Amino acid sequence: MTSASAPGKLILCGEHAVVYGRPAIAAPLGDLRAYAQIEPGGPGSGLGFIAPDLGESWTAAGQPEHPLSELARATLARLGQHEIDLTVRLRSDIPIASGMGSGAAIGTALVRALAAHIGVALAPEEVAALVYASERRFHGTPSGIDNTVVAHEQAIWFVRREPAPLIEPLTIAAPLLLVVGDTGVRSATRLPVGAVREGWRADPRRYEALFDQVGELVMRARLALATGDAPLLGALLDANQALLEQIGVSSPELERLTAAARRAGALGAKLSGAGWGGVMLALVTPKSQPAVERALREAGAARVLAATVPATGGA
Ligand code: PMV
Repeated sequence: MTSASAPGKLILCGEHAVVYGRPAIAAPLGDLRAYAQIEPGGPGSGLGFIAPDLGESWTAAGQPEHPLSELARATLARLGQHEIDLTVRLRSDIPIASGMGSGAAIGTALVRALAAHIGVALAPEEVAALVYASERRFHGTPSGIDNTVVAHEQAIWFVRREPAPLIEPLTIAAPLLLVVGDTGVRSATRLPVGAVREGWRADPRRYEALFDQVGELVMRARLALATGDAPLLGALLDANQALLEQIGVSSPELERLTAAARRAGALGAKLSGAGWGGVMLALVTPKSQPAVERALREAGAARVLAATVPATGGA
């Protein structure tokens, strides 16, 4: 039996604008993971999947167009394998459609487990590329930030560009303490991403100007991380939330939670991921953390969790 796992992720700032070539910053959620376990199947059994969290089990032959059947096939082709009898068990602690990267994490765990089973080491870039191709096929125009941060498992600076994205490790002078509040509202990434595209098509000047403001703020956030200036970073997160509201991807639930976090002493708060539902994050201190967690629960968060982004040397 072979197993592998992959982390969830949070976008710290820059979501949506990142689809249009502006920079974004994301970090892995090391403690919240998806897992893939591989067992050899009986001769001729083919490739089977069991995913209790998704309430699904299927075979690649029976559902060849299932996103994970396709990803497994593409991965096996890359590994030089075609006819193979395996059972893959998938499980995930990451809530689905919540902005914490569950899709990228499950895909990455699957690719890693298949590579480990075959005995081939794949570089993070190769793992990310396989998962990206799968996300592209099923989610329209992903920027690639999710699969990249999940495959690299470190905080990154990400800029979408052709032929390959710019990915840089970040210098983080002091650990970041985040509290994540889940609205409990599930929202598929492609819906707000599609709405932003429609808005951008209808009024490109307005949207390009909003994306420029996001890009500027993300650059300042990089400096705030490098110097350990948490109050500045908090103010930038608040400014990013205001821009995301103008971009049209916030929601009353997200705004209730971000407002509650700020009132309880967070340095800043914003939605994280595609929006309309899913999660928000608040930047806190060890002192304000308990009050922010309590305030989020009282404001109706379906789930509250703390996450630390460790300090790094960076590049
Ligand atoms: O909701 P998530 O975690 O899939 O994040 C989507 C991030 C967007 O910037 C909105 C889209 C993208 O592809 O980068």
